[in-house]
Amino acid sequence: MRSTVFSASAVLLALMACSAAYSPRPAQGTLPKDGAGIFQAECALCHGPDGKLGLVGAKDLTVSSLGRDEMISVATFGKGAMTGFKDRLSPAQIELVVDHVRSLRGNP
Ligand code: HEC
Repeated sequence: MRSTVFSASAVLLALMACSAAYSPRPAQGTLPKDGAGIFQAECALCHGPDGKLGLVGAKDLTVSSLGRDEMISVATFGKGAMTGFKDRLSPAQIELVVDHVRSLRGNP
């Protein structure tokens, strides 16, 4: 009896380990805690490490004229080819990354 309980929990643990390892998107908690780190992890793919890359029509963020609230809205809900990050980042993380984007312009 005791060994059944043991193997059942071993299977459960193995399943939990697998689902964590194969999750296509890391959990919010595994992301860097600062705006620059989140930007490199989540945004640099299309926008480039300095915000200027412009892949798949991504805007050059260093010349964006959007206000802070508008940037938060784009980052949260997406725009055009850019998907929103509301399921991926917490509101606080979105604010951090937007503040980093604004610092890229050299005119926050
Ligand atoms: C899959 C590629 C992709 C990723 C990843 C991506 N973006 Fe974008 N982003 C785009 C595209 C494409 C546009 C242009 C959308 C349009 O105007 O049609 C854009 C536009 C923007 C704009 C609006 C700029 C303007 O002046 O209109 C902001 C702000 C922005 N992105 C911030 C971010 C942030 C912050 C992240 C990371 C959390 C991010 N993006 C990740 C592709 C991406």
